Amino acid sequence: MGDLPTDSGGSDRKSPVKLPIAGKRNILITSALPYVNNVPHLGNIIGCVLSADVFARYCRLRGYNAIYMCGTDEYGTATETKALEENCTPKQICDKYHAIHKQVYDWFNISFDEFGRTSTPQQTEVCQAIFKKLMENHWLSENTMQQLYCDTCERFLADRLVEGICPTPGCNYDSARGDQCEKCGKLLNPTELQDPRCKVCRNTPRIRDTNHLFLELPLLKDKLVEYINSMSVAGTWSQNAIQATNAWLKEGLKQRCITRDLKWGVPVPHERFMDKVFYVWFDAPIGYVSITSCYTSEWEKWWKNPENVELYQFMGKDNVPFHTVMFPSTLLGTGENWTLMKTISVTEYLNYEAGKFSKSKGVGVFGNDAKDTNIPVEVSDTLFTWADLQAKLNSELLANLGNFINRVLSFIAKDPGWSSGCLNGVVI
Ligand code: 2FM
Ligand code: ZN
Repeated sequence: MGDLPTDSGGSDRKSPVKLPIAGKRNILITSALPYVNNVPHLGNIIGCVLSADVFARYCRLRGYNAIYMCGTDEYGTATETKALEENCTPKQICDKYHAIHKQVYDWFNISFDEFGRTSTPQQTEVCQAIFKKLMENHWLSENTMQQLYCDTCERFLADRLVEGICPTPGCNYDSARGDQCEKCGKLLNPTELQDPRCKVCRNTPRIRDTNHLFLELPLLKDKLVEYINSMSVAGTWSQNAIQATNAWLKEGLKQRCITRDLKWGVPVPHERFMDKVFYVWFDAPIGYVSITSCYTSEWEKWWKNPENVELYQFMGKDNVPFHTVMFPSTLLGTGENWTLMKTISVTEYLNYEAGKFSKSKGVGVFGNDAKDTNIPVEVSDTLFTWADLQAKLNSELLANLGNFINRVLSFIAKDPGWSSGCLNGVVI
């Protein structure tokens, strides 16, 4: 397939498009799509981009036919909120931050075959097609919810766009967010806030009914459990992935709302839901597919080919249930022959000095900070304690790991029997 013309939908890629090849190991690699509303921090990069990159490079060196897909996750409240903050449109936010993400990853020399985005016509097409199949197969149901509505702004307010007094006894923090009180940490429902205010215009919102569509996870459970067992028993799911998935299953699968009263998202192609968009966690994993469809018009050869393609997905631990429960259920519900995740690689959180990385609070090391240090590529590290940067690099990475790899490879070169479990005739 090496002589295929490029099919990049306008990207600057030079290498030929790769398609699955009969008789080869065809490996489809993804790393979680970072939200576009901020510059990437080292947690994103180390959390999954770098590990997926190492794996992609390893696969290519082994001669496997591997592609690595990633891109920015652009829809949803976070982008709308950022646009309000920066006094521009969501599209302008996406254009600005997508370019920053791309620059940072280019600087890190991440070997994506495609670094795309979710706010594309391809995303709308794939997402709506999946939705229509779910509708046809009766895996979606309609329910009424109560949400806060601002008459001045003429919109339903996303949880983070409401603030008020925390209802927790003894807390009474007066700027608690609709989803969580930052002072006492309690998770909240926005309708529980006392004296709620719209964050945009400061007026008092009112409770209003709104209809939404829900994915019937309880009805899809048997199909899902069969898939989870077949994949996780094969030993290709890490313990932390299995644990997070089991926690969801144990709690009992619930219907999950897949629509939102927002403007910035994939429109719901249904006559009663025309003014709504899909929930960002419904469309985000579909981004992997649509980004592949920007890479090649023959994307189905990767994504609807489970017999010949192995899907490896890399992510941080908070993303696990969306990849082991929500996304597979969505794909299984279409009744089509999708390539489902075979192997999942999950990273625990990366902390910064004494605390947590926080994009919203600007705490941590961000991709552009690393770039601005002007530390040359060969001495860059995944380190987050500045004082240790140089020492770790020299002693751990170069001296210890480098030496270890060098010695192992020298042994193998001297005595090839060693690599097949046999050193000088002794089975090891
Ligand atoms: O947690 C996040 O940053 C999400 N944007 C990850 C999405 S992963 C995938 F589903 F797109
Ligand atoms: Zn308002």
